[in-house]
Amino acid sequence: MKKISLTGIKPTGTPHLGNYLGAIRPALALSETYETVYFIADYHALTTVHNGLEMHDNIHKVAATWLALGLDPEKGLFYKQSDIPEIFELSWALSCFTPKGFMNRAHAYKDKVAKSLATGEDADSNVNMGLFCYPCLMDADILMFNADIVPVGKDQKQHVEFARDVALRFNKQFGKAIFTVPEAIIQENTDVIPGLDGRKMSKSYDNYIDIFLDSKSLKKKIGKIVTNSQEMDEPKDPEICNVFKLYKLFASQEQSDALAARYRAGGMGWGHAKAELQSVLEEHLGVARDRYFDLIAHPEKIDSILRAGAEKARPIARENMDRIREVLGVGKSY
Ligand code: TRP
Repeated sequence: MKKISLTGIKPTGTPHLGNYLGAIRPALALSETYETVYFIADYHALTTVHNGLEMHDNIHKVAATWLALGLDPEKGLFYKQSDIPEIFELSWALSCFTPKGFMNRAHAYKDKVAKSLATGEDADSNVNMGLFCYPCLMDADILMFNADIVPVGKDQKQHVEFARDVALRFNKQFGKAIFTVPEAIIQENTDVIPGLDGRKMSKSYDNYIDIFLDSKSLKKKIGKIVTNSQEMDEPKDPEICNVFKLYKLFASQEQSDALAARYRAGGMGWGHAKAELQSVLEEHLGVARDRYFDLIAHPEKIDSILRAGAEKARPIARENMDRIREVLGVGKSY
């Protein structure tokens, strides 16, 4: 039997090319070797998004993005967290097995507290209980579907460690392997994806490129990538060039070698290099872009995919929750 890989996608804004290369593409590649579970973690987003229209919009955009990029809803599971109420039930049960001290040490919570203290505010003034309990909900996400591996960025590693801990605690308490003990798979290379200014591509630096832009907007964005002031005739070093660094992440080895040779030979200007980047991006993402805009124009298609996904996931969650209820002694639900 294939092992299970589970990925939660928080709908808090449109993902950019850095997210695509660092998180989405590697997570989708796992569907070759694992049974996959992908879900939209909308109730995690609720810790910060308190506007219904924005939430609704984010869910559709993020679902359309993953679907357009190749998530196959027929294979494995793809659902919206809020559609599986058993996850919230499990979250409560797990919170009763989680030492509060662990939550006090959670990075996201500690960062908020540190920020508040630095500005002279009360330690907990910017912390809602959802944020404090965020890791328990994540434990439930992971343990409900018996994930073997959880591909995440470095910032989420601690959360998966909490899930491991609570799974072990629970299994030990009841003397049987109720939960699979999950393992984090850390995506390390996310720092190397350069943004327009050469720093790590990130929303907070405002140096990002959206995944799906029409050709004209994409050209404008690429135009903003910072290069040096070398003249057209001069030979150039591809390895220090932000345009080339991005190009390499999408192009084949042969394409990269060929463009690197043109850099070194001289006679190629920055405009040419940028046109090459545009063409490789169009080649790589053009079809996905069409699919994305089609889904966004027909949100009912997204809703029906998510509904079918919930129908597939819910019986699994119910069955697992019943087993858990049994060992807890509260009995099966009716
Ligand atoms: N907390 C994750 C993030 O911010 C999203 C997430 C929620 C998640 N539940 C999960 C990731 C379960 C992996 C497994 O990106």
